[in-house]
Amino acid sequence: MAKTEKFERKIAVTGGAGFIGSNLLLYLVSRYPRYFFVNIDCLTYAGNLSNLISIEKAPNYRFEKIDICDYAAVSACFEKYDFDGLIHLAAESHVDRSIAGPAEFVKTNVIGTFNLLEAARQKIARGGNFRFHHVSTDEVFGSLGESGYFGESTPYNPNSPYSATKAGSDHLVRAYHKTYGLDAVTTNCSNNYGPYQFPEKLIPLMIRNAKAGLPLPVYGDGRNIRDWLYVEDHCRAIDLVFHRGKSGKTYNIGGHNEIENIELVRLVCRLMDEILGGEPREKLITYVTDRPGHDRRYAIDASFIENELGWKPQYSFEQGIRRTVTWYLENEVWLENCVSGQYLKYYEKMYSNR
Ligand code: NAD
Ligand code: TYD
Repeated sequence: MAKTEKFERKIAVTGGAGFIGSNLLLYLVSRYPRYFFVNIDCLTYAGNLSNLISIEKAPNYRFEKIDICDYAAVSACFEKYDFDGLIHLAAESHVDRSIAGPAEFVKTNVIGTFNLLEAARQKIARGGNFRFHHVSTDEVFGSLGESGYFGESTPYNPNSPYSATKAGSDHLVRAYHKTYGLDAVTTNCSNNYGPYQFPEKLIPLMIRNAKAGLPLPVYGDGRNIRDWLYVEDHCRAIDLVFHRGKSGKTYNIGGHNEIENIELVRLVCRLMDEILGGEPREKLITYVTDRPGHDRRYAIDASFIENELGWKPQYSFEQGIRRTVTWYLENEVWLENCVSGQYLKYYEKMYSNR
């Protein structure tokens, strides 16, 4: 049984072994020594406990290997720790995988979120406070044309199985707030980049391929636009909204940083040329068949969180992308372990005999 009485708050973080979850836990565990954090993650291909080595022995951190689709396990975990808050990040997160196989996305993103909401509902029925922070995406709003921005009242219009399941989970959270009075907040954030991102996503994929001299596959005409945000800035926004966001509200989070994919890939190539030398890597760019239903443009109007909570991104894109490229080049072993699946052995070694 966890000795958690001495802590001010007990907070579950689902998906804490993934890209954003790892960055968030590394940030929160040291920032809030008087809070107890439980990382609930079932370690899919995207979960990597080696990201969390620096906090794994921290007195205010625990890992629980639980699939959020397993209600009995979720419910038992809620009883064990008696959480008063949850930051929910666990999800199937990659659009291309959702196109190839949507079933896992419906299970984890919709049923998994439903299970957490039910566990939270049981908790408030027993009495006591509980804040449910749902971490979601701007992709629920669909695609923008050449102008305009996503605001909090933009109608939902998801186009991929991934974004449709995230939209479904957002609606469930809203319904639990309206129907059962659950203290809930939702954040819809633009594309993140930074350390620990699984190399199926655009930026780490391009860095890895460019390093290995492999083709850099750009979908369609390469002119799709994303609004990139350095992951640490997202983590600071989650911290603010979790603590100070108004119950029942949704907050859009974005980097004011729109860039066409092709420009981004060229920039990554130029940075790598500068750091590593050698032949210009732009030569490796290869246009490939477009993603079906590929959203053209995402861009966030973040004025609500900026005005209400005083949040602003701290990293310029130039700083963030340079840090990111440098991190992947300096952490080649991490990158290659992801790709080969070696990181799962780490988990076996550390947890199989517990
Ligand atoms: P990720 O794919 O890197 O990590 C997902 C994590 O969830 C992994 O650790 C995985 O093991 C875990 N997980 C998956 N299914 C699970 C299940 N059934 N039970 C328990 N754990 C499970 O994802 P990410 O990029 O870190 O995204 C985290 C959250 O943020 C997601 O909800 C995503 O929709 C949202 N989001 C991501 C971005 C982005 O750019 N990456 C932007 C906005 C919002
Ligand atoms: P991705 O990182 O998959 O994020 P999302 O689809 O959630 O925005 O892709 C970012 C953009 O990069 C998107 O427009 C698709 C494009 N892309 C490529 O051109 N080539 C690739 O190999 C990948 C993975 C993505």
